[in-house]
Amino acid sequence: MKKSSIPDPEADLLAYNRAAWNAQVHADNQWTVAVSAAEVQRAREGDWSIVLTPHRSVPKEWFPDFSASPCRVLCLAGSGGQQAPILAAAGASVTVFDLSEEQLKQDQLVAKRDGLTIESVQGDMSDLSCFKDESFDLIVHPCSNSFVPNVLPVWQEAARVLRRGGQLLAGFTKPVFYVFDQNRIEKGELIVKHSIPYSELTSISSSDKAKYIAEQEPLCFGHSLSDQIGGQLEAGLRVIGYYEDHWKAYPVGKYIGDMAATRSIKS
Ligand SMILES: C[S@@+](CC[C@H](N)C(=O)[O-])C[C@H]1O[C@@H](n2cnc3c(N)ncnc32)[C@H](O)[C@@H]1O
Repeated sequence: MKKSSIPDPEADLLAYNRAAWNAQVHADNQWTVAVSAAEVQRAREGDWSIVLTPHRSVPKEWFPDFSASPCRVLCLAGSGGQQAPILAAAGASVTVFDLSEEQLKQDQLVAKRDGLTIESVQGDMSDLSCFKDESFDLIVHPCSNSFVPNVLPVWQEAARVLRRGGQLLAGFTKPVFYVFDQNRIEKGELIVKHSIPYSELTSISSSDKAKYIAEQEPLCFGHSLSDQIGGQLEAGLRVIGYYEDHWKAYPVGKYIGDMAATRSIKS
């Protein structure tokens, strides 16, 4: 894409992040690389796992038994050909919702290749008005709410479209990750620089922002735990499971779990 065609994130953050994630697919970002046919085949045979955070698999007991009763799953901001095809091959009825059409194509490529049915819907995770109340039994939300400035509407909408007794499995980046100078983190250095909430629209220098935009990096936001966990509770979700992960690509994870996952139930 030519630089002149990059949307201005100050004017339209959604358009910018959508274009940036489309570009990540063409750059083979690891969160855009689809699962193999062999992994799909193993999932059909009952041997499967997915991640919500970079490395740790979600505990199997967090999932309902897909063979016992039909399960409508929403992969929320979870496209890229990773979780959705595995869950579909494991027996769930899967809808994948994402901002990026190129990410959604990754799921459809796998579906076509491996004979799976996956419904794809494009949109913003903060607005699920295309779905009726209580449309899903399970929502799988891998680490992606760091791309919206306000996570509270995401929890409200997730709770609305989940049936009573349904579950939300969500991964997120802990705020400690964003406290450090993000340029130095990439060089392995931990320099405390930012307060939380962190915003790549307002917390960083204009030269850093210009560099991210030129490189078509999706812009990130670091949310407080009050928003990540308290926001789920306020939305009527009860947190019944929690684990942390250590992102090996960055030095923060050497000292503290910098990624987390929650299991919540709509009561
Ligand atoms: C890190 S990837 C997560 C998906 C990946 N399958 C995984 O395993 O983590 C982040 C995803 O969030 C999507 N995304 C970013 N902003 C979004 C928004 N406002 N609404 C919906 N999806 C969004 C991106 O297009 C991308 O597919």
